[in-house]
Amino acid sequence: MNSIVDSRTPSAVAEAERYTAHNYHPLPVVIAEAEGCWVTDVDGRRYLDFLSGYSALNFGHRHPGLIAAAHAQLDKLTLTSRAFIHDQFAEFCQRLAALTGQDLVLPMNTGAEAVETAIKVARKWGYQVKGVPDGQAKIIVAADNFHGRTTTIISFSTDEDARADFGPYTPGFEIVPYGDLEALADAVDEYTVAVLLEPIQGEAGVLVPPDGYLSGVRALCSQRNVLFLADEIQSGLARTGRTFAVDHEDVRPDMHIMGKALGGGIVPVSAVAASREVLGVLQPGQHGSTFGGNPLACAVGIEVVKLLETGEYQKRSTELGGLLHEQLRALMGRGVTAVRGRGLWAGVDIDPGVMSGRQASEKLMARGMLAKDTHGTTIRLAPPLVIEEDEISWAVRQLAEVIGAA
Ligand SMILES: Cc1ncc(COP(=O)(O)O)c(C=O)c1O
Repeated sequence: MNSIVDSRTPSAVAEAERYTAHNYHPLPVVIAEAEGCWVTDVDGRRYLDFLSGYSALNFGHRHPGLIAAAHAQLDKLTLTSRAFIHDQFAEFCQRLAALTGQDLVLPMNTGAEAVETAIKVARKWGYQVKGVPDGQAKIIVAADNFHGRTTTIISFSTDEDARADFGPYTPGFEIVPYGDLEALADAVDEYTVAVLLEPIQGEAGVLVPPDGYLSGVRALCSQRNVLFLADEIQSGLARTGRTFAVDHEDVRPDMHIMGKALGGGIVPVSAVAASREVLGVLQPGQHGSTFGGNPLACAVGIEVVKLLETGEYQKRSTELGGLLHEQLRALMGRGVTAVRGRGLWAGVDIDPGVMSGRQASEKLMARGMLAKDTHGTTIRLAPPLVIEEDEISWAVRQLAEVIGAA
């Protein structure tokens, strides 16, 4: 490990600041290597990763099976475009369709692209299947949502930082309070083609809706012939203890929207999955992506789905998540004002009288734990699902000491 004097971190931070747009406010740590739950910075300091790339690293850094699949594919074929079919494509789509219980899959790259795909497909379904008059389709979304950063998606954000000065905005969306079934029912009209929701709102601070909300949304959408689009980009793929967060209420949405961990922490892989009636509305030339469903992405994606098929990660998230939440709840009233979440995913509100979320994150970093704040007072905890019991206890002890609860 380097001493403070010859630390490479300050200059590496300064260089990164100098040559990029300041669209993030990263913690001043410069990571060079990682394995499992642990990352190592340019000075050789180790940190327990409690963010997991916003759940893109559910299986840990450099999971051996995923890395092996990527290496093997790199040696054979990396890109064809969708102009041709490659030999990894069908298996990935078939396995993901089976995992979601849907008929068809359409792979893309980033989460935002998958959400855009969902919006386009829902609108087309609305015009062609439901019979909504041309140009009138409405999609209902929730306040405090986070679905990505494209111009259409930020058009229905309620976060001023995400929205301001990026107009003119895409019309066709109505925002209702999250978790309020009555408000949602009131907003549905004959032009409504879809309800787009995060089953747990991640960026908003890991907000879990009231029990019965997701099944209520399902019932409402079925009654009113409206598509339920579940954005499982952050909540899905074992993060909450089930394969998808909607599974906690035995709900099957009309469309699963997936991303992040689908790429195994190696490549950007996203996808939507839906019935033939819904995804079947797309015809050649109407949607696509050069890199979407490329051979490398599919090879990694196949291994990701195989890992999920074992159920091991869902089980780990349930069991270890129980431990995490139990230990976090013990900090309530001692510098923590609220703990929310499910499985290995928690939003922890720090008493603003004690310190801000950013200050807590910085102090945790100094102790070798990486977590990220949101909305001023909240820190989000989402370790890789390969984390061990003693590592969870160590991390919560660091948090307790940082906020003076120990
Ligand atoms: C629920 C949800 N949807 C969509 C996105 C956007 O994904 P990406 O950053 O890959 O575009 C995110 C990213 O945080 C997310 O959490």
